[in-house]
Amino acid sequence: MKIISNNFVLLIFFSTTIFAFSQTQGTLISDMNTLRWEKVLPGVWKASFGESGLNPFDYSAPSKTNAIKNLGEAPFPFDVDSTFYQLTNERATIRLPLSKTESIYGMGLEFNGLNRRGNVYTLKVDHYGGTMGYTHAPIPFYVSSEGYGVLINSSKRIKIYVGTANRKDGKQTKPIDRTTNPRDWEARPAADAIEASVQGSGLEIYIFGGITPLESVQRYNLFCGGGILPPKWGLGFWHRTPTAYSDEDIYQEIKEFEENRFPLHVIGLEPGWQNFAYPCSYDWSEERFPNPKEFLRNLKNQDIEVNLWENPYVAPTSSLADKIKPYVGSHTVWHGTVPDYSIPEARKILMSHHQKEHIDLGISGYKIDEVDGYDFWLWPDHASFPSGNDPVEIRQLYGLMIQKEITDHFKQQNKRTYGLVRSSYIGSPSQNFVIYSDYYGHKGYVTALSNSSLAGVLWTPEIRDAKSPEEWVRRFQSVCYSPMLLLNAWASKTKPWDFEGVTDIIRENVETRLKLLPYLYTAFYNYNQQGIPPFRAMVLEKGYLGTESLSDGALDDVKNPYAEKTKLEVTDQYMMGPSILVAPFFTGQTKRDVILPKGNWYDFYTGELVGNGNTITVAAKLEQIPLFVKDGGIIPMLASTDIFDEQNLEVRHYGQKQNHYLLYNDDGVSYNFEGGDFSLIQLQAFQDKNGKLKGKVKNSNSKDYRYNSINWIWMTY
Ligand code: GAL
Repeated sequence: MKIISNNFVLLIFFSTTIFAFSQTQGTLISDMNTLRWEKVLPGVWKASFGESGLNPFDYSAPSKTNAIKNLGEAPFPFDVDSTFYQLTNERATIRLPLSKTESIYGMGLEFNGLNRRGNVYTLKVDHYGGTMGYTHAPIPFYVSSEGYGVLINSSKRIKIYVGTANRKDGKQTKPIDRTTNPRDWEARPAADAIEASVQGSGLEIYIFGGITPLESVQRYNLFCGGGILPPKWGLGFWHRTPTAYSDEDIYQEIKEFEENRFPLHVIGLEPGWQNFAYPCSYDWSEERFPNPKEFLRNLKNQDIEVNLWENPYVAPTSSLADKIKPYVGSHTVWHGTVPDYSIPEARKILMSHHQKEHIDLGISGYKIDEVDGYDFWLWPDHASFPSGNDPVEIRQLYGLMIQKEITDHFKQQNKRTYGLVRSSYIGSPSQNFVIYSDYYGHKGYVTALSNSSLAGVLWTPEIRDAKSPEEWVRRFQSVCYSPMLLLNAWASKTKPWDFEGVTDIIRENVETRLKLLPYLYTAFYNYNQQGIPPFRAMVLEKGYLGTESLSDGALDDVKNPYAEKTKLEVTDQYMMGPSILVAPFFTGQTKRDVILPKGNWYDFYTGELVGNGNTITVAAKLEQIPLFVKDGGIIPMLASTDIFDEQNLEVRHYGQKQNHYLLYNDDGVSYNFEGGDFSLIQLQAFQDKNGKLKGKVKNSNSKDYRYNSINWIWMTY
């Protein structure tokens, strides 16, 4: 953290709202102006210039200002005269300082790497194509290893140079002659700033202060309304059935799940539930679902929720087509019209149709597909929309707009929805949706779990298919430790028991995840209240001293003509909730390294001490995904695998430390918790006079979401 002058500290802490800095003597960076920062909340500052276009915060929940205030003050992270902007005819640009040793994380839901330093990103909603910045959730938010976060609040396509754009009047590193010193020469000389720009006439930027990166992530999430609390059923087992399945096929499928003793909490219907798909009619197929109301009632009676797939492009035959016609854009996608959902009336038409045709019948959520898409699928950048809004900005916000409409619509009926979406943007923490992709790299899927926490989104490494029983197990294990336990069999038709010899292993892994519901649900509550992501990158974890090194960058005139060093990063382990470290195995691995943060860590399955602040090597066991628990970790688990049977609780304690844990519970479906209808049960592990660990349970409030019995299990003792 940079030292800031005393005067500056005074300014931050004693000014009421606005503080501004006039430029110091002489311009540090020629042609650029100093940004003026306004403190909007403790630890949150805003600067803006010019006009910034559609505001993503119009599609977000109101900020949780009290929760931000509870985090207290944070230091302003930069020198007063070191942040700049520039406005030319075409572009609005900002420049924020970067210290020599800083790492930069975030910049959206990427599938590769964590530290973004040394790269250039064009942040564009797109189906993932491996191009830097083209992704499902290209969120222009980054977190520094020095603790602060920055949000460029724009819905325009932002180009951002993360420590690569060297100004002639910036602090440049010393030039090195490549011929005589090829080892030290750098193809991308480190720059002393992050520079970003958009095509347009202004920008708005926020700084989220923090002593640790987690703190700034919390502030960002809370500023976006806080994380979501899914309904409990949403944390159960999801299965998406093949595209053309009928009601009868699904009844049969449910029977097979029962026969194979697999739990089932949500059925996802893929395109064929409609009478026209790609583009969509949003109307039921009479052939496959002659009586949707009865179908949904039958499933509800078995405690199974139903989620509908759709994309936003309206089929000419849809019963919605005429009503939405005045609100559609100039171009079609898959021959369907593209509603302008920046117009409230268009959103109303969509939702009143969905209410009558789906929600009234019992549908509890949606999977919003194709809101990303490659350029050749979507509307062109020069399309026009009736609102007059910029088509590029509409594309950036499209997935978010639909999420917000659906989340709010269910909320008005006091119901929590939980669904899937393929694109998102700033404001995503408060939308009840999880991102998924067509891309299917297992390692990338796990990396995305870390990156999701640095971007304020939820991500599911859904399982679809596998080439071997081993891969089936390994992928299943990863998805068990994610925000949505989802088998997406829309094309593969695979069932959990389809791979020989591993069905019991899969079932056991699923059951362990289901038993962890109280722990996971409480982690989501903390996401909601404090902005702490339930699934987190290790770089957000205290005491983690990971892990970045550089390859030697050997010159190779075909593969590496600039002898570039490659960043070697650890992206295959992450945190779930406050105390569990997840370290998945990938197919073919017989052992793997796990980097433990400081403090004692214990094996989840045996309670044995495994290490402290060191790297351990774990031998692969097919039946287990490595899970480690920190000293004093308290893990409440259901005694049964039935997530709706919360009578008996088993509370595991790991290690030696005394600790306490606030267990959250509520009705699991409504928003009554926002009015105080929930219980917080304090689980306390303490040492008695003889130094023996004992458990105590205290109800912290009078509400009634209790358990009949709570058994402590001392895993290490
Ligand atoms: C894809 C989507 C898949 C599946 C499919 C149905 O775009 O990513 O998960 O829903 O459409 O056609």
